Amino acid sequence: MTQLVRPDVSYADSWFAAFEEFGRAFSDGSGSNGPVEGEMTRERFEALVAERLAASDPATPLEPDRVHCTFLWIVDGPEFLGNLAIRHSLTPYLLEQGGHIGYSVRPSRRREGHASRALALSLPWCRDLGIERVLLTCDVDNEASRRTIEANGGVQEDIRGDKRRYWIDL
Ligand SMILES: CC(C)(COP(=O)(O)OP(=O)(O)OC[C@H]1O[C@@H](n2cnc3c(N)ncnc32)[C@H](O)[C@@H]1OP(=O)(O)O)[C@@H](O)C(=O)NCCC(=O)NCCS
Repeated sequence: MTQLVRPDVSYADSWFAAFEEFGRAFSDGSGSNGPVEGEMTRERFEALVAERLAASDPATPLEPDRVHCTFLWIVDGPEFLGNLAIRHSLTPYLLEQGGHIGYSVRPSRRREGHASRALALSLPWCRDLGIERVLLTCDVDNEASRRTIEANGGVQEDIRGDKRRYWIDL
C-alpha cells in the first residue's frame, strides 16, 4: 500500500538501495538532482534527513529565492520507494517551470501506480499548507508524469518552453 511519510532514518536500507538506482542522486524534487560527490555515508544520510525535516519549518532560514518545502517519502510498508516534495509557495521560477510538487519513484518500482497514489495522498497535505490551487509541471515528453498529473484531475493551462503546466483546484 502506497503511503506518504516524513523522512525517517528507519528507512535507511531501502533508501540507500534506491539512491544507487537513482544514479547516486537524491531525486527528491528539490532541483538538486545531480549525482552526489564523494561517499554517501550513514552520517551524511542522517544529516540529509534532518535537513529535509527542517525545510518544512517556517522558522528555518532560507537562501534567497528558496521557499519552505515539505519533503515526503513514498513508502510501501518498511520500504522506501521514492520522493515527493511540496513547495509551500511559488517563486517566479516555480510559477513558470517547477510548480508546487516534484516527485520520483525508484526505477525498480515504477509502473505500479505509486506516483499516482502518492500525488493523490499529497493533496490533503497541500490543503493543510493553505495551498488552494496546486501547480504541477512536467516536461512535454514525460508521458509518465503527464499521466500521473491527469489521473489526479490536473487541468492543463499551457505549455511554456518544454514544460506542460497543470492546475488542480483543491
Ligand atoms: C514519473 C514517475 C514518478 C511515475 O512514477 P510511477 O510510479 O511509475 O507512475 P504510475 O505507476 O503511477 O503511473 C502513472 C501513469 O503513467 C503511466 N506510465 C508510467 N510509466 C510510463 C512510461 N515509462 N511510459 C508511458 N507511460 C507510463 C502509467 O501507465 C500510468 O498511466 P495510467 O494512469 O493512464 O495507467 C517515474 O517515472 C519517475 O520517477 N520518473 C523520473 C522522475 C520524474 O520524471 N519525475 C516527475 C517530474 S515532473
